[in-house]
Amino acid sequence: MTVQDKDIKEILCSEEQLKAKMQELGVAITRDYAGKDLLMVSILKGSIMVMADLMRAVDLPLEIDFMNVSSYGSGTETKGAVKILKDLDVDIKDKHVLIVEDILDSGVTLHNLMKLLKQRGPASIKICTLFSKPARRQVEVEVEYMGFEIPDAFIVGYGLDYDEKYRNLPYVGILKEEVYQ
Ligand code: IMP
Ligand code: MG
Repeated sequence: MTVQDKDIKEILCSEEQLKAKMQELGVAITRDYAGKDLLMVSILKGSIMVMADLMRAVDLPLEIDFMNVSSYGSGTETKGAVKILKDLDVDIKDKHVLIVEDILDSGVTLHNLMKLLKQRGPASIKICTLFSKPARRQVEVEVEYMGFEIPDAFIVGYGLDYDEKYRNLPYVGILKEEVYQ
């Protein structure tokens, strides 16, 4: 058992399950974006693993960019607004934008981000999220590609953090309550 594994209550997705899911999503995206100018936008930092694996599973020419927005402090509860910490480098006008996220929780982050990016005139804008916690939703967000619907628990690993830690776990697990209580 490694130093970080002992804080995990239960493994939710193994490395193998994550890999299979990324392949499945990659096939769907490859089919849907054939012949289009695809720009995959990774929302930092949580989606770096999803982005790295998903872009390799998409068999099309594509561009990538990164954006960092924040609706969370160091805790586990959402705040009401998003703040742009790092904006995109590229102009998304007339491009087919695919937002790549780790997890959709209250929906506040993606709802506000979609509103903002739509004003920049993309040809289309869709969302791919690895996880979704439907029980936590405060605002509706339309998702085109979704990996796993999960119950209301705080998860870490494969990019997802608690207080900036655990992102390097190769699997996704539920964090023991005692770690953040
Ligand atoms: P939302 O605005 O409430 O949908 O928050 C989405 C963001 O909150 C995600 O991009 C994550 O950074 C963070 N988040 C939400 N739930 C979890 C979780 O279970 N583990 C780690 N981060 C989470
Ligand atoms: Mg995040």
